Amino acid sequence: MSDGRITTARLGADGPEVGVQGLGCMGMSFAYGPSDADASRATLERALDLGVTLYDTADAYGSGENERFLAPFFKAHRDEVVIATKFGLAIHPDDPTKRIIRNDEPYIRRCVEASLKRLDVDVIDLSYMHRRQVEIPLEDTVGVMADLVREGKVRQLGLSEVTAGELRQAQAVHPIAAVQSEWSLFSRDIETGVVPAARELGVTLVPYSPLGRGFLTGSFARAEELSADDFRRQQPRYTGENAAANAALLDPIRAIAEARGATPGQIALAWVQQRAAVHGLPVVPIPGTRSPARVEENTAATWIELDAAELALLEPLADRVSGTRYADMSFTSAGRE
Ligand SMILES: NC(=O)c1ccc[n+]([C@@H]2O[C@H](COP(=O)([O-])OP(=O)(O)OC[C@H]3O[C@@H](n4cnc5c(N)ncnc54)[C@H](OP(=O)(O)O)[C@@H]3O)[C@@H](O)[C@H]2O)c1
Repeated sequence: MSDGRITTARLGADGPEVGVQGLGCMGMSFAYGPSDADASRATLERALDLGVTLYDTADAYGSGENERFLAPFFKAHRDEVVIATKFGLAIHPDDPTKRIIRNDEPYIRRCVEASLKRLDVDVIDLSYMHRRQVEIPLEDTVGVMADLVREGKVRQLGLSEVTAGELRQAQAVHPIAAVQSEWSLFSRDIETGVVPAARELGVTLVPYSPLGRGFLTGSFARAEELSADDFRRQQPRYTGENAAANAALLDPIRAIAEARGATPGQIALAWVQQRAAVHGLPVVPIPGTRSPARVEENTAATWIELDAAELALLEPLADRVSGTRYADMSFTSAGRE
């Protein structure tokens, strides 16, 4: 760690190289309670100093607000950053508090044009399908995405929360650079099918919520402590009796952290970073934070290598977690495997 800058990993079979840890920007505008815009801007700059180059957003994060917020940062550093955004989660026509999934061509085209405008860029570096609408053939959706690459609006393609079979189907239409799915000490369902398929196809894994939405850091013990509109209040594993049971699972993470003079969050992140070596594919987690100090802490975790005894202590955790990742798992790959 000569200058504190993190190492790199390949994003998709043909590159580019990106920092081996990205930054999740969602919380800066959406889902996790009030944000301080100055602190978020400082976080973006500090991340870049530390070698973070993959910045993750989506059109759904605050109905475009997150993309608009990031635009000045991207403009100031266009050649240094890889901009990843997503389409596919739309507002329900009859109830603005609900989401529906849309993968039809007119919708995708409208979304990508709107993202380009809000981000104030000519091209999106990595465009993800956020969720799969099962009524639309995946080949058709990826066909539209491939057309957008040919038209110069998008550079690389990604898929979020797809099954192994869906990834193979998509890859037959156009190279997929990245699959983004939840992967953490508490969420390991993708290891059965998606991860081996990604390795075989040369696809990079981008784990989201690698800190278990903050729970693995110990910064909150139950979602009821968080602000009234915090999305985590809707997630079964962070509320009520499930949260109490899951908080007890953090003991081995804390013990390893204490013995190493690290934080529990760093141990949780080091475990995800180490999936690259364990599973033999490029892995670029995107922890979300709005704090420059936390981005320093999180990137420093890329230098921690857990030993066999530590990994063995952490191995049983995911199987013991109470409660599902989402209240409605039909939106996820695990709900369709
Ligand atoms: N594809 C998808 O469906 C999907 C779903 C969810 C998320 N995502 C993407 O993945 C990114 C990351 O996931 P996430 O934000 O849900 O979960 P996460 O990265 O597991 O955790 C983020 C939470 O942890 C806190 N945190 C971060 N670093 C910390 C540290 N060192 N110590 C203590 N707390 C810390 C953050 O608080 P502060 O912000 O206050 O620091 C935030 O509340 C998102 O930003 C988004 O871009 C994608």
